[in-house]
Amino acid sequence: PKPNIDPTAVLIKAYACQRRTPLKHHNSFLTDALEILSQNAEYNDNEGRSVAFRRAASVLKALPYRVKNMEDLKSLPCLGDHSQRVIKEILEDGSSREVESTRQSDQFQAMKALTGIFGVGVRTADRWFREGLRSPDDLFRTGQQLNRAQQAGVQYYDDLQKPVTKAEADVISDIVEKAVRAVLPGAEIRLMGGFRRGKEVGHDVDFLITHPEEGKEEGLMPKITNWLEEQGLLLYQKTTRNSYLEKMDGPARAPNNMDRFERCFSIFKLQTGSERASVSGWRAVRVDLVVSPYSQFAFATLGWTGSKLFERELRRWAGQEKHMSLSSHALFDSKQNLYLRAKTEEEIFAYLGLEFIPPSERNA
Ligand code: CTP
Ligand code: MN
Ligand code: MN
Ligand code: MN
Repeated sequence: PKPNIDPTAVLIKAYACQRRTPLKHHNSFLTDALEILSQNAEYNDNEGRSVAFRRAASVLKALPYRVKNMEDLKSLPCLGDHSQRVIKEILEDGSSREVESTRQSDQFQAMKALTGIFGVGVRTADRWFREGLRSPDDLFRTGQQLNRAQQAGVQYYDDLQKPVTKAEADVISDIVEKAVRAVLPGAEIRLMGGFRRGKEVGHDVDFLITHPEEGKEEGLMPKITNWLEEQGLLLYQKTTRNSYLEKMDGPARAPNNMDRFERCFSIFKLQTGSERASVSGWRAVRVDLVVSPYSQFAFATLGWTGSKLFERELRRWAGQEKHMSLSSHALFDSKQNLYLRAKTEEEIFAYLGLEFIPPSERNA
């Protein structure tokens, strides 16, 4: 709350990667509503509309004041007609009819419940919705064919719905460090994703692993997961090999946000409760592990810190404003036709002509 800010004097840049977006901001009453519409557009496979609402919400997160009237929005970018209508209604009536009816709709609630299952994407959830299914219980009841990930998703549904706390993330960090040290001395481990941005809770815990000697990291993931499995710490894991080839990353590459590091989607069995054996137990926690060669570590760090919109905007900025192509592996400069090497995130921002934004202000 800063009462003396003149909204018309605040300059907000158009790309999220040009702005500082703190975790806590002044306009959740508006951004929550816009994000419902964004999510609903995603459920309806309308990516353009989904991103438009998400960008509008993100602009409001960067404001150093609470929006009081439409005048406050006059000089802001990324606010389309539809977003402005929604904001106006909330400012005038306290809520938006479109948002409330969306939030309460059968489709929205079912899609939220079904895509909330680990291993279930929008396409699968939509098919199930059109077949009349509404919840994880319905899948079980009707005997749907589930793949291994989805089976784990249903089995651990309740635990995986519960937010992961920073304290739990720290316990998992210790476990991952111990596992990695046991199989590859000298390796480096970094906590990524929302927790690196300063979040107090998350839907999972993300780690990036590397080794200062290039090549030592090859084939590391199976060794880590074997160690964890032997300790009885894994409830589920799926490892995918590194499939990155630098020459494919230039302008000829099809646009695909997915990186090609050696990675593991897993579910940890985390001991919980007090020392008193009678009340101790365990819970399931989603953990993502990624292994990066040292030469790509800065790009991987930038790519795995998020937020998702911040990442998307970085890539859009690189392509549209700089004729460069940014991924979690590399930065390719189309004008010079060469890869730009970087050891730190700061260097990458500098190549892109952007002011460095620290992780805690990438909550776009
Ligand atoms: N990411 C990615 N490829 C994926 C999934 C995620 O590159 N297939 C990146 C995202 O771009 C993001 C980071 O990994 O930068 C973390 O993603 P995720 O765990 O989904 O989100 P968080 O920001 O950590 O939020 P949460 O607290 O909900 O986990
Ligand atoms: Mn519209
Ligand atoms: Mn995460
Ligand atoms: Mn993740």
